[in-house]
Amino acid sequence: MGHPTDQFNRPLRDLRISVTDRCNFRCPYCMPADVFGPGHAFLRDPQLMSLPELTRIVRAFIGLGVEKVRLTGGEPLLRPDVPDLIRTLKQDLGVKDVALTTNGWLLEKLAPKLAAAGLNRLNVSVDALDAAIAGKLNGLGFTVARVLRGIDAAAAQGLKIKINCVIQRGVNDTELPALCEYFRERGHPLRFIEFMDVGNTNHWTQERVVSAKEIVERVNARWPLEPVGPAYRGEVASRYRYRDGRGEIGLISSVTEPFCRDCHRARLSADGKLYTCLFASLGWDVLGALRAGASDVELERYLNRVWGGRLDRYSDERAEVLATGEPRAKIEMSYIGG
Ligand code: GTP
Ligand code: 5AD
Ligand code: SF4
Ligand code: SF4
Repeated sequence: MGHPTDQFNRPLRDLRISVTDRCNFRCPYCMPADVFGPGHAFLRDPQLMSLPELTRIVRAFIGLGVEKVRLTGGEPLLRPDVPDLIRTLKQDLGVKDVALTTNGWLLEKLAPKLAAAGLNRLNVSVDALDAAIAGKLNGLGFTVARVLRGIDAAAAQGLKIKINCVIQRGVNDTELPALCEYFRERGHPLRFIEFMDVGNTNHWTQERVVSAKEIVERVNARWPLEPVGPAYRGEVASRYRYRDGRGEIGLISSVTEPFCRDCHRARLSADGKLYTCLFASLGWDVLGALRAGASDVELERYLNRVWGGRLDRYSDERAEVLATGEPRAKIEMSYIGG
């Protein structure tokens, strides 16, 4: 079966799998504690994809052209079989690039297991170094020092690490220089993600968004920067390196300069639904099809049809959508994966 392209001629290259919708943090911009409290209905065991089911589903995606798999959540390291999943992706399915996005809390303990399983790359979220600001940003007062130790532990295993950071005006924009300084010293690229209106509960406002442009200007004023071309077509971050040769930063400007034109990503939720956009409201029940008895060929055909019909370009349309003033139900990021 050839590799499909969607309605805007975009191939499918990356699969992002949310392995759990649970998280040990309660970042207010993602899982505010008042919404994701004891009453929240998280997914339970029979709803989650098992390892054998995941293996079959990923194999079908590989048949469609997927070369890169990223494990996300919620917090993927809460799931005990993640090292086994990584090993399966690498050894049984031959996925070239297997990456994981984590909040780093469990990294100190798990870094050796992840490296041994064959993980290629790790992205760790750090929004502040100041203990009080970081504690507020993870919603539970947890110490950032432990996350930083986790990053060191992963680096000691030889894992390639990038740091993800969301800067919000009036919340953590004072942390910008300290973050740059810290990760320059350690040689980990620091990437700034513009604060996005994902989900329905994160109190997003345009005023809180610090644009990629503003971040580049502020960093450049302190440490002169120069642009670097993208590492590959469809890379979401635009990259700059420090002129003094001490590493680089990246900007993920999904609000001010959307990159839907090159969006090659599909997202699979922990209960096996396929979402063709981070801002989608409906998913396609791939796990349901598998459990109803679909063969491998039928699964591939199903995915092929979904991708072939894909029309999503939410970030490109954001301004128009918001201007209509009509509320739009969106999927929470913790469920669909970052
Ligand atoms: P690499 O460049 O391969 O490391 O992957 P990545 O940048 O896709 O990985 P990561 O999970 O670290 O992405 C960083 C963040 O960028 C995500 O958590 C999202 O917030 C945002 N992002 C990634 N892909 C998309 C996308 O397709 N659309 C939008 N709007 N935002 C995205
Ligand atoms: N806007 C931008 N990035 C977000 N993330 C979570 N919620 C948002 C949001 N509303 C980021 C996290 C993490 C990555 C998986 O997604 O900070 O780095
Ligand atoms: Fe958890 Fe990441 Fe969401 Fe924070 S941003 S609540 S760490 S999934
Ligand atoms: Fe892709 Fe949707 Fe993000 Fe656009 S908004 S880049 S289509 S995930």
